[in-house]
Parts: sequence; C-alpha cells; structure tokens
Amino acid sequence: RIPLLIDTDPGVDDALALLMAFDDPHHEVVGLTIAAGNVGLAHTVRNALKLCEVVDHPVPVFAGTPAPLLHPARDAGYVHGTDGFGDIAYDAPVRTAETEHAALAILRLSHAHAGKLLLVALGPLTNLALALKLDSTLPERIARLVVMGGAVTAHGNITAAAEFNVAFDPEAAHIVFSAFARTEVVDWEAVMAHGFPHQRFEAWLQAPSKRARFYDAISRRTRDWAVDRRGENWHSADALAMAHALHPAGALEIVERPMTVELAGRHTRGATIVDWRREEGRPDNVAILLRYDQAAFEARVASALAAG
Ligand code: BDR
Ligand code: CA
Repeated sequence: RIPLLIDTDPGVDDALALLMAFDDPHHEVVGLTIAAGNVGLAHTVRNALKLCEVVDHPVPVFAGTPAPLLHPARDAGYVHGTDGFGDIAYDAPVRTAETEHAALAILRLSHAHAGKLLLVALGPLTNLALALKLDSTLPERIARLVVMGGAVTAHGNITAAAEFNVAFDPEAAHIVFSAFARTEVVDWEAVMAHGFPHQRFEAWLQAPSKRARFYDAISRRTRDWAVDRRGENWHSADALAMAHALHPAGALEIVERPMTVELAGRHTRGATIVDWRREEGRPDNVAILLRYDQAAFEARVASALAAG
C-alpha cells in the first residue's frame, strides 16, 4: 500500500477527504499533520482526533503551527462553524495529539517512507514550509505532492483573486511551490467545475453508517450556507484533491506551467500567478488539474460515506 501523509485543517471538506483516504484499500494513512486555517489549531487538532475516533482509526495526529509565518490571517469559521465541525458539540475525543511537532513529523515520515510517500496538503502550507526550512532535501524523498490551493485564473474565493489556503499563508505557499520541482495542484476553479447536486449528496448522507451520520451532522451548517451562497451544487475542495491524489488515473485534463504566489499586491496578495504563455522562461513547477472523471469522484465520495 502507498504510504499517505495528510496535512490538513479540518474543516468540513477536509473531513470528507479524510474519510475517502481511510476508505481506500491501496493507501495507508501514516499520519495527519494539522494546520491552523479553517479555524484555530486547537479546534483543527481536536476535529482530526474526533474524526479518527469516528472511523476507529489509530493514525497519529501531530499538531503544527498555530499561525501563518508572517501575517495574521482571518479564519473561515463563518463557513465551517466556529469549531470547524459545524458546532454540533460532539463529545471530546479520548485520544490526544502526539508530542512531536507536525513539521518534524513530516521530515521523519519522509525518511521512513523515502521515495514512496504521497503527501497531500489540504490546508494552509505553514507546516510544510517550516519542514522545508528545516531540511531543504525534503522534496527528494516525496513521491508526489498534491496541494488543494490556488485559483489559477484568479477567480478567488476569499478575495477577488486569491483562494483561502494560499491567501491564509502566502509566504508558506511561496516556499512550497518554489521548493518542489512538481506540485500537483487542485485549485478553486477545478473545485467549482466539479460540484454535484445537494440532493444527490444528501441521499449519500442517509447511508446507515456511523461516518455518514457524523458527516451529516457536522456538514449541515456548511450545506445551508452553501445553498444560500452557491446555489444547487455542493462543492468539496479537499475531497476533489483527495480523489485526484488517490486515483490520478481519473484526471482527464492536466496542464503544466510555471506558477508563483503574489506576496505583495494591494488587491492580489495570495494570488497564484500562472505563467500561461511561459513569458518568463521559468520551468514548469505545477501540474494543474483541469478536469477529473466526475462519476469516479462522486463514487468515491459515496463509498467513503457508506463505509464502516
Ligand atoms: C480550501 O479552504 C478551506 O476552507 C477548505 O477546507 C479548503 O481546503 C478551499 O479554498
Ligand atoms: Ca482544508
């Protein structure tokens, strides 16, 4: 089985992605490193531990850094609930996080699974950037890096031009995209192109499994918000990224280009700038997912909810 390390800030869509990862027979989740992002670190760590408890999975959870590298950022509690999991007041998880810092865990696991590790980042890239600053040889040991982040034609979701995960910690994203020769990017525009009807999603949430019941509860608030805000389709950013990570053969269209992150910019800080015409002569460093097999994506979501 392919070892899979997930850096995440759960988060309602992170939770769905994690369920998909736990459900996959060809991958073994070897750790969850936790970022601040959707909500504060104390909540994202607790949510990760709770989700592991719901699926009865003993994977170690490592807490990361509680704030972006340079500038404070606003969280997304207004989307995910103030606790990041829909404010359902779940019982506290029994387990606690490991004492090792997330950045150190990333480095250690990269050695333990050198050349084989699939690294999937579903939140701001603070932990990964710190790991790279501690050890710049990290990319040599990573088989694939898949990042949910960016808005490749500058149709942002948190500002006009920027996507949340990159905008939350642009310096970290800059460090990561500069360090890896090839990052597989699932951006916000791909997410918007792979929605599915709320009605269909709600039918899957009726599956008689513990995880479907839990997910139904934690996602209710966000689903209501999404219906008001985005209409009839449900979009799950991190779930699409995870589908692509677990099953890259489902990708129908990918384009490789140079991409960097805008760090200044009065209106564009945190935007991902893709050199579509390769004007600047830099090497391609990202493989951007444009189109994914929608039926395969939806089947994975449905199966992850029904499992267990
Ligand atoms: C990303 O931002 C977060 O709110 C989601 O969990 C996802 O990772 C989408 O822009
Ligand atoms: Ca996320």
